[in-house]
Amino acid sequence: MNKSYPNTRMRRNRSSKFIRNLIRETSFSVDDLIYPVFILPGKNKEESIDSMPGKKRYSIDKLVPIIGKLHKKGLNAIAIFPVIGKTKKSKDAKESFNPKGLVQGAVKLLKKEFPNLGIITDVALDPYTLSGHDGIVNKDGYVLNDKTIEVLKKQALSHAQAGADIVAPSDMMDGRVLEIRNILEKNKFHNTKILSYAAKYASNLYGPFRNAVDSSNNIQESSKETYQMDFANISEASLEVNLDIDEGADMIIIKPGLPYLDIVSKIKNKFSIPVFSYHVSGEYSMIKSASLNNYLDEESVVLETMYCFKRAGCNAVLTYYTPEIIKWLDKK
Ligand code: PBG
Repeated sequence: MNKSYPNTRMRRNRSSKFIRNLIRETSFSVDDLIYPVFILPGKNKEESIDSMPGKKRYSIDKLVPIIGKLHKKGLNAIAIFPVIGKTKKSKDAKESFNPKGLVQGAVKLLKKEFPNLGIITDVALDPYTLSGHDGIVNKDGYVLNDKTIEVLKKQALSHAQAGADIVAPSDMMDGRVLEIRNILEKNKFHNTKILSYAAKYASNLYGPFRNAVDSSNNIQESSKETYQMDFANISEASLEVNLDIDEGADMIIIKPGLPYLDIVSKIKNKFSIPVFSYHVSGEYSMIKSASLNNYLDEESVVLETMYCFKRAGCNAVLTYYTPEIIKWLDKK
């Protein structure tokens, strides 16, 4: 079979917009977006985040109208990240499962306001620990797996009781998906979904987030490499995903986003579970700062980025760019 030039001219199918549209292999829409938000205690508060220009932390009363507008435009889900007052942080992270805590209260209110909006909560202890780690540490600063799970279970249950649709363990402890599934089942939360951060890498791209949730002072120079994955590894991600599927995850996250799309593509080819990707804070801030300097055109770069996530096989993407994307899609 001779497929060479001029029989085949690849540019024929690129020669006008209509044919490019017809042969387009992936699509992207508001349906693919999850908006991660930072919430503050109190009322009538909003604070800029130095490490993430254009993004803010809001008290829940301020957040409600913002989310309301996005939800009207089709936003399906948000992921909540709390900024906990310094006095509420402790060694045992017990504030994490306080039924009247910041997250639990916010979930209740948001579910009442927007019954059809999916609410995702983060199950991890880093906002609540003095160490800034995602779990309970021993005197050497080592994160204790099973002791941490005992707290994560209670945290996940308190989120489900508040009305969270999806609990998302982002802590990377071994066995936590199973334990969370068990406690949810035992308490009859049969439809509460577990979105497991199955392959979460110990990435340097989380820096701006730690500033946003104010855990960077707590974690300081300590690293999360004893629980998050080594960024040099591929096969290990399959092992992690396999285990989490067995333990009862409904969906998984690969994190960070763009630099880790090789992992997404591999996992999609191997497993049938829905895969989400997290376009993390460092990725947001890179595009944002280049755009602020006019080195890049923000809108086109962000939209291209979203197609890349879809092309790699992601079912949905968590991105701080959600409001801007919704505005840009609306305009088109
Ligand atoms: C911790 C958590 C982190 C992020 C989400 N949940 C940071 C970390 O592991 O230190 C990072 C998200 C981002 O960078 O946007 N449970």
